[in-house]
Amino acid sequence: MNDISSQVRLIDVGPRDGLQNEKQPVPAAVKIELVQRLQAAGLREIEVTSYVSPKWVPQMADKHEVMRGIRRQAGVRYSVLTPNLKGFEAALLDQPHEIVVFGAASEAFSQKNINCSIAQSIERFAPVVEAAKAAGIAVRGAMSCAVGCPYEGEIAPERVDYLAGLMKGIGVQRVDVADTIGVGTPKRVQAAIEAALKHFPIDHVSGHFHDTYGQALSNTLAALHMGVWNFQSSVAGLGGCPYARGANGNVATEDLVYLLHGMGIETGIDLAALVDAGQFISAHLGRPSGSRVARALLSRR
Ligand code: HMG
Ligand code: MG
Repeated sequence: MNDISSQVRLIDVGPRDGLQNEKQPVPAAVKIELVQRLQAAGLREIEVTSYVSPKWVPQMADKHEVMRGIRRQAGVRYSVLTPNLKGFEAALLDQPHEIVVFGAASEAFSQKNINCSIAQSIERFAPVVEAAKAAGIAVRGAMSCAVGCPYEGEIAPERVDYLAGLMKGIGVQRVDVADTIGVGTPKRVQAAIEAALKHFPIDHVSGHFHDTYGQALSNTLAALHMGVWNFQSSVAGLGGCPYARGANGNVATEDLVYLLHGMGIETGIDLAALVDAGQFISAHLGRPSGSRVARALLSRR
């Protein structure tokens, strides 16, 4: 157990992970406004979109429009998903600060999500990582199904160890330990993080917890106790992966911020402004926020 960090850095993945699975088309202008509200609320990292096949994920087809429409704020890092060189070349036109290659600890999920094996995915990612670094763009690696897989069930930490090692080997700079379907509980999540820490330092390992089973805050606390201080979350708890049936949204950024501030941990985020950002997108989608903190605070306004 390490000391809990006095500061936490959050990446809001709402515009990407949050909206990618949305059935109704969300106009680019709404996505742009969401990104702008998030940065105004103090988010310093925002995962904006994905350069993936529009046949696979139609909701992200407006990637260029969204990336080009954002009024960028100094000090904010904009990241995007790039599964292969084709995606990277398209992303390069929009100058993200960081790209994300996304692999899986489970073979079946790798096949369903990106249509190739884990080994093939690493072969595809290697030139992407090289090209990104040559262009001065940072590289993150997402490791899906780090504790459980919708097709294979429980995933052993050794699989995360294996994938993290492969990612390190091709030059990925930091990794996300992702509980894609939110089945993890604290000890299992800690074991997955431990496996990632065999290859990456604590500053370069983040937690990405979906909240399907309501365990994401507990898992965050468990990760905090290991010294992890980077996390991903979605405003209003938006989201789910199109290739993980039943996967709910990420833990809500509002809920995470409430937890962190309550523990005296700084995030640089203005919770009231964040709640407003969540209200903006929830109103557009025509449903209540998935954040319990947002609902509680709104009921008191
Ligand atoms: P594929 O079909 O194997 O690719 O898809 P291909 O190379 O055989 O090409 C087939 C067609 O796709 C061709 O077009 C290519 O040009 C096109 P056609 O000639 O048939 O018209 N293509 C592309 N188009 C746009 N952008 C590209 C691209 N690459 C090929 N980059 C591919 C492989 C990876 C592209 C596909 O499987 C795909 O797009 N998958 C989407 C996966 C995805 O976005 N999943 C959700 C994000 S991951 C996630 O949510 C998990 C995460 O949150 C962590 C967690 O919670 O676990 C990160
Ligand atoms: Mg995710």
